[in-house]
Amino acid sequence: MKYRYLLVISVTLSLFFYSCKKSSTDTSSLYTPTSADVTSKASLVDLQQGRTLYINNCGRCHGLYSPDSYTSTQWTGIINNMAGNTSLSASEILQVTKYVTRGK
Ligand code: HEC
Repeated sequence: MKYRYLLVISVTLSLFFYSCKKSSTDTSSLYTPTSADVTSKASLVDLQQGRTLYINNCGRCHGLYSPDSYTSTQWTGIINNMAGNTSLSASEILQVTKYVTRGK
């Protein structure tokens, strides 16, 4: 009987943590760059690093906005405002910008 009780608790706890983890790391709306996304302004490495930096630094205070939610002009303004909220270097901010604007 005692074991069954422990089993129920551990299943409940793992479901709980799984659901938390899932919602806080929901990156499904964030495209994964491939060679097809490379432009004259953004290399594949820029786009891939930009995605990682974006996920790790820009979802701390709010959810991760989809790159497609804003135009490149809008993103440039938004990133200008948001950069100061992070400890990213200028070159890292540039990579985040390249990622969310799809190198445009
Ligand atoms: C310290 C907290 C914090 C961090 C870190 C942060 N933001 Fe924000 N962000 C905010 C707040 C607060 C708002 C809403 C108020 C505002 O628009 O200033 C916001 C709003 C936004 C919006 C919506 C703007 C709009 O006009 O609808 C976008 C997009 C955004 N942030 C992107 C980013 C990106 C990209 C990064 C990483 C470079 C980032 N944020 C990091 C606090 C943060």
